[in-house]
Amino acid sequence: MSDQLQNIITPLTYQLGGLSLDDGLEMISRDFVGRTTFSSSFSYEDQVITHALLSRRLPVKIFTLDTGRMFAETYSVWSSTNDRYNTSIKAYYPNQEHLEAFIEENGPNSFYASVDNRKNCCYIRKVEPLKRALAGNQVWITGLRAEHSPSRHDLQQLEWDEGNQVIKYHPILHWSTEDVIDYIRKYNVPYNPLHDRGFVSIGCAPCTRAIRPGEDFRAGRWWWEDAEKKECGLHSN
Ligand code: ADX
Ligand code: SF4
Repeated sequence: MSDQLQNIITPLTYQLGGLSLDDGLEMISRDFVGRTTFSSSFSYEDQVITHALLSRRLPVKIFTLDTGRMFAETYSVWSSTNDRYNTSIKAYYPNQEHLEAFIEENGPNSFYASVDNRKNCCYIRKVEPLKRALAGNQVWITGLRAEHSPSRHDLQQLEWDEGNQVIKYHPILHWSTEDVIDYIRKYNVPYNPLHDRGFVSIGCAPCTRAIRPGEDFRAGRWWWEDAEKKECGLHSN
């Protein structure tokens, strides 16, 4: 099965070329009906995709990874999104036993003490729940954009995720920040108010801060760590 999935990436990429966001999502969700899922962190980007999916009721399951450490504003936009689209976005939670043992051993804020602690926290709160969320799916839609970081520049719209054995689809990979903001305004999509306060890339509250003009897009994430270590294991880029 994984060989079959990998082999259709090239023809699918060809078919997707030049399609609009709506048409691309429609094609993928119909080709992989019941096997396509979208992960939302309620960022600007993710809200664009959520609107495109839910305003047309495309058959894609939407989920979030609720780490338990998200901003109050993130929970608010999750709630207002449920209301606006008359839906209930599913949450996956960390394994209770693993989290309890980790906190008992290391305390609640151990991510500041070492990169290993931080990566273990990300593993328990995001990466392991993601594996459960993706199980049984063939396509994983994300809100990744090339502008986010140099390592995301070279991504393809469709790529193979060996670890999770799914095709990843990044429908707004080549959108600019202005494209995203224009879309949010045009359709009056609920968005995280932290974006208006200098937060660009938003993750967990203790690990995210606003950036100053001119700083890198992801400079506010795990800001106390060296730039090359800044990934949480959800994506290899
Ligand atoms: S991360 O690797 O640094 O955490 P980033 O915040 O850039 O990722 O988000 C990129 C994409 O990863 C989002 O568009 C979304 O698809 C997915 N994602 C990130 N965090 C979450 C989350 N908490 N729940 C669900 N999806 C997420
Ligand atoms: Fe833990 Fe911070 Fe990773 Fe969130 S971003 S899972 S709080 S280390």
